[in-house]
Amino acid sequence: MTQPRVLHEMPASCSELRPPAVPRGRRLGQAAAAAVAPFLLILLLAAVSGSTAADVVNLTLLTGAQERGAVCLDGSSPGYHLQRGFGSGEHSWLVYLEGGGWCDDIESCSTRKTTANGSSKLMEAAVFEGILNNDKQVNSDFYNWNKVFVRYCDGASFSGNTEAQDQDGSTLHFRGLRIWEAVLDELMEKGLASAKQALLSGCSAGGLATLLHCNDFHSRFPKEVSAKCLPDAGFFLDIEDLSGERRMWSVFNGTVHLQNVSEVLPKDCLAKKDRTECFLPTELVKSIRAPMFIVNSAYDSWQVRNSLAPDGSYPGQSWSNCTENIQYCNSTQMQVLNG
Ligand SMILES: *[C@@H]1O[C@H](CO)[C@@H](O)[C@H](O)[C@H]1NC(C)=O
Ligand SMILES: *[C@@H]1O[C@H](CO)[C@@H](O)[C@H](O)[C@H]1NC(C)=O
Ligand SMILES: *[C@@H]1O[C@H](CO)[C@@H](O)[C@H](O)[C@H]1NC(C)=O
Ligand SMILES: *[C@@H]1O[C@H](CO)[C@@H](O)[C@H](O)[C@H]1NC(C)=O
Ligand SMILES: *[C@@H]1O[C@H](CO)[C@@H](O)[C@H](O)[C@H]1NC(C)=O
Ligand SMILES: *[C@@H]1O[C@H](CO)[C@@H](O)[C@H](O)[C@H]1NC(C)=O
Repeated sequence: MTQPRVLHEMPASCSELRPPAVPRGRRLGQAAAAAVAPFLLILLLAAVSGSTAADVVNLTLLTGAQERGAVCLDGSSPGYHLQRGFGSGEHSWLVYLEGGGWCDDIESCSTRKTTANGSSKLMEAAVFEGILNNDKQVNSDFYNWNKVFVRYCDGASFSGNTEAQDQDGSTLHFRGLRIWEAVLDELMEKGLASAKQALLSGCSAGGLATLLHCNDFHSRFPKEVSAKCLPDAGFFLDIEDLSGERRMWSVFNGTVHLQNVSEVLPKDCLAKKDRTECFLPTELVKSIRAPMFIVNSAYDSWQVRNSLAPDGSYPGQSWSNCTENIQYCNSTQMQVLNG
């Protein structure tokens, strides 16, 4: 196998719409802002916050998770943060799926289950910023909607469905698909079922999850309800890096097989192609029936650093400056990026 290690650790270059999950923490991922496509600027201007105090929203653990086997990697109950809408947003819902890479082998999933990315025992309250902010000045479109931040603790974009034995003999639970279904069922009972408009979003691995679950989300509502999808920085490309390795494909192949990702994949794709192929956004979008707005930087800095020009895929330091900041790329490198 190649060395996808770095892919487990880093978030994709989410736009500033992304809400950070940790209270009092510093803002991460500033690099992403430099590379954002111009059409995003309108959204960004609305979302970039200066000093507005954002709300801290407590974690709600899913009811009946154990009975349904809808559990995090370590077997703990998954969770989400819900803030009720108000005023004209009372019947509008935003469901936002957290991101955070994938785990594609026993070792990486085993490590992951000892973090908040694999266990609710370690999850804290969330700060609602960006698209989840309830300040009209900062988030004029969604500030008064019902907003749900769904925590990611399965390592396969809410899509796996099996289990495996961990190195120490305990069970590793790969139940992302059950988590998705159980959380959505519970939210439907809590008012999502009477939404007049509903938006599914998420960034990075959560953006991919948005693509994977967009049809199911859309199909949960009657025709007259406006249900749409907004995948942010989830359009991961299957490309060769500078040395010819398909890094993204290799991580997805590991995840798809280890975690038994199949039920969420489009049937018409599976009829022609293998499962890993059908997990790729370029394939997924062909089957999406709901209205969708894809948010993705044309020069996604995470994909440049991890899929196109990861360390070791080029001689010496020849690409280091370019991957650090797109302004340092020379004309040859820009041609590669544009390709
Ligand atoms: C959130 O949790 C904290 C600590 O448990 C508690 O003091 C606070 O009342 C909770 N807030 C709400 C809105 O439930
Ligand atoms: C969870 O994953 C995100 C994105 O990969 C990472 O930034 C964060 O540090 C991880 N959290 C923990 C507690 O490991
Ligand atoms: C894999 O997932 C499918 C669909 O969710 C399920 O029917 C099947 O039992 C799973 N296989 C294993 C080995 O867990
Ligand atoms: C994809 O994963 C499967 C299952 O782990 C493995 O058998 C196969 O060799 C992998 N394919 C490639 C090209 O790495
Ligand atoms: C990278 O940038 C530094 C500082 O501007 C410069 O000294 C160095 O020569 C550059 N390296 C390459 C390979 O272009
Ligand atoms: C751009 O940088 C690369 C890597 O350092 C180098 O191989 C290439 O010749 C440079 N191209 C130009 C036009 O300077």
